[in-house]
Amino acid sequence: MTVLPKPKQRIAILISGGGSNMRAIVEALHRRRWNDRYGAVIAGVVSNQASAAGLQWAEAQGIATRVCSHRDYASREAFDEALKQAVDGLTDQAPPDWVVLAGFMRILTPAFVEHYDGRLLNIHPSLLPAFPGLHTHQRAIEMGCRFAGATVHRVTAALDHGEILGQAVVPVLADDTPDQLAARVLTQEHRLYPDVLEQLLQARLQA
Ligand code: GRF
Repeated sequence: MTVLPKPKQRIAILISGGGSNMRAIVEALHRRRWNDRYGAVIAGVVSNQASAAGLQWAEAQGIATRVCSHRDYASREAFDEALKQAVDGLTDQAPPDWVVLAGFMRILTPAFVEHYDGRLLNIHPSLLPAFPGLHTHQRAIEMGCRFAGATVHRVTAALDHGEILGQAVVPVLADDTPDQLAARVLTQEHRLYPDVLEQLLQARLQA
């Protein structure tokens, strides 16, 4: 019996900073053998910040990296067009199968979102639909929330909206500072994002 190779699922990861979520995904890919099981490969990592610490880690892993700085473009539309070319350039100018925003701190235009329709994912450090936008941990503490967390969702043109694919919940403790809460949430993000991505890889394979 001939076993056909699995079609590839090429994953591009977009970062702006430390890239700990990127790292959790890359490590899960290796540890859980996503290549053998789902045909998954990391196409590359793109950052809008040349100084993003995550870029160095990715390079050390032998992952292709690109920098596309928003400061080099006069408009959001022009930046997103360049970003699109950088992302698609990782995979011979065709859109990757998955584009994973992992601490990518730019608002994207509708044209960019539509180009990756359905294959663009984000992780947001709150229990959406509560607290879209910035300063989520501080806002959760100020509102007296007993629970906080993170959400992985499909990206739509509306900021931090789109189909919720998974959530992780953590307690807000008495006297929590935003930094303490952020650290507790981030630990869960590192579990949640790979788990959600694995479900999508599996579902695509079976589709
Ligand atoms: C994470 O909390 C992510 O949800 C938020 O920014 C943080 C970035 O973390 N958008 P990292 O760059 O993945 O370490």
